[in-house]
Amino acid sequence: METKIIDGKKISEEIKLEIANDTKSFQNKFLVKPGLAVVLVGNDPASSVYVRNKEKSAIDSGMRGKTINLPSTVSEQDLLNIIENLNLSNEIHGILVQLPLPSHISQEKIVEKINPIKDVDGLHPFNSGLLSAGTPRFIPATPAGIRELLIRSDFDTDGKHVAILGRSNIVGRPLANLLSMKSNGGNATVSLCHSRTNNLKDITQMADIIVAAIGIPNFVTQEMVKENAVVIDVGINRVESSLHKRGYRLVGDVEFETVKLKCKAITPVPGGVGPMTIAMLLSNTLQAAKLQCA
Ligand SMILES: NC(=O)c1ccc[n+]([C@@H]2O[C@H](COP(=O)([O-])OP(=O)(O)OC[C@H]3O[C@@H](n4cnc5c(N)ncnc54)[C@H](OP(=O)(O)O)[C@@H]3O)[C@@H](O)[C@H]2O)c1
Repeated sequence: METKIIDGKKISEEIKLEIANDTKSFQNKFLVKPGLAVVLVGNDPASSVYVRNKEKSAIDSGMRGKTINLPSTVSEQDLLNIIENLNLSNEIHGILVQLPLPSHISQEKIVEKINPIKDVDGLHPFNSGLLSAGTPRFIPATPAGIRELLIRSDFDTDGKHVAILGRSNIVGRPLANLLSMKSNGGNATVSLCHSRTNNLKDITQMADIIVAAIGIPNFVTQEMVKENAVVIDVGINRVESSLHKRGYRLVGDVEFETVKLKCKAITPVPGGVGPMTIAMLLSNTLQAAKLQCA
């Protein structure tokens, strides 16, 4: 059987259309335009692209999109004050601070400053606690996007063994909580793997679904994958390429060309998980506006 290439771009466009329609109905009913504020500290080129995409996607979906660009020298106190103003704003329902932050700013302090009801990144301890308890409110966008990709591609996780590679707070850990929840799109048996995991290959070879989120180009090779597994590649890595005008190309954490010969389905990079992340951020923003206007 031919390997299915899971088209995250197409699925995300469908979701964004649904969100745009839902946003219109919401706005007609409550006379409120959902608003997303994205705060970017510094001028890292990759982060700048992500932030621009988030603002544009919000506007395209009929929401208010606002980017706040700050120099990398901004003080922690000034950033806390800016978040406080956003917390108080009636026009902003979702706040996202693009990570990572410069080392003189405490990421924890900043995330904890965001009003949990506006925390559309789902990283505030209150929201990560709700997810751990199995009663999520805002699910971090990348894990939410991965679950949605699996659901909309008809890959049931119920009773399946999922190996997640990487235990970050934005991808691996919340995804493990999400896929093991007692609910639709959950009920999986999850192995949450990391750099200290022994015999990683033995674990991935048993997995029905592999999710790679470690940030190492082409780390997952064909021999690590079970025949007919579903492979989700979260990694976004820049590798030098003289063939590309910009001097690099994007690759995932999975060796796509060889793994696709063995698995049942696989996400490409780019065009797999990445676009889903933005769609789910918009979904969280609309949900935040609904919660604040209810
Ligand atoms: N598509 C998207 O929208 C999206 C969103 C977020 C991130 N990403 C991409 O996803 C990748 C991961 O990012 P992240 O922020 O989640 O991760 P991260 O914070 O960089 O953490 C990497 C994780 O990988 C684990 N790891 C490192 N080497 C390993 C190895 N040899 N074997 C097993 N595990 C290993 C680390 O283990 P330890 O905990 O033991 O150090 C850590 O848990 C990056 O390429 C990032 O750009 C994509």
